[in-house]
Amino acid sequence: MTERSLLMIPGPIEVEPEVLRAVGRAAPSHMDPDFARAFGRALSRMREVFVAPTGQPFVVAGSGTLAMELAVANVIEPGDRAVVVNTGYFSDRMGAILERLGARVEHVGAPVGGAPDLAEVERAVAAEPTKLVTITHVDTSTGVLADVEGCARIARAHGALSAVDGVCATGGERFLQDAWGVDVCSTASQKAIGVPHSAPFVGVSLFLRPMKKCKAGDPARDSGPTRATLEPPRCPDETTLLPRPLASLDRVRARRLGRRARRL
Ligand SMILES: Cc1ncc(COP(=O)(O)O)c(C=O)c1O
Repeated sequence: MTERSLLMIPGPIEVEPEVLRAVGRAAPSHMDPDFARAFGRALSRMREVFVAPTGQPFVVAGSGTLAMELAVANVIEPGDRAVVVNTGYFSDRMGAILERLGARVEHVGAPVGGAPDLAEVERAVAAEPTKLVTITHVDTSTGVLADVEGCARIARAHGALSAVDGVCATGGERFLQDAWGVDVCSTASQKAIGVPHSAPFVGVSLFLRPMKKCKAGDPARDSGPTRATLEPPRCPDETTLLPRPLASLDRVRARRLGRRARRL
């Protein structure tokens, strides 16, 4: 008899034995220097997973919804206008989060199972000064894969920030945060990352920008230094302690590098 039933849903996914073994280890102290090194290594790995070498990742414990809120609560102020590229249930959820933060929200949608045309997205963003464009990379409810690169390009062209919900996509779909100019993206542990739900892994990756210049629709936003370069933490190769996110981030990274190598 198997120990549990097979999960056949988009996520939480089946967790690999290697990750389960890491989960089963004795809990380290959060003050332990080994823990600090391992945490630093998790941040470095996240830069690789998001392909954002100059981004600043944050790892906190919680759900994907927490990550979504964390990502946008730090850029939205009451009265700001936000355009939600709506491809399903989780885009609706992002709209609700933004409204609770006091944003004026406009949804740009499509019939169920489709994504809005980029021309429509551009019309909505250009209609009024816009602070933020949000995109659900893959909406789990509909399975729709959004054109994140195209939407982020539109946001930048109109002086808006872009935020991506990558909960269902990060580690599974192609995503180049740095090259595509995505300002902030969030993800969670339970899907392509392959770690139990709400484990200490919610990723939010943010490019540091001069926020005073980030007024809605301000084309000067990109005229200053756009990305503060942070030194990635210098973490020695870490072998003594492998907290659960690390085992999995290593696998995601290995898959990505493998895929990249195959494309060459
Ligand atoms: C695309 C997307 N965003 C956000 C969430 C919310 O994540 P959580 O259930 O961990 O709050 C999910 C969950 O399935 C999702 O698929």
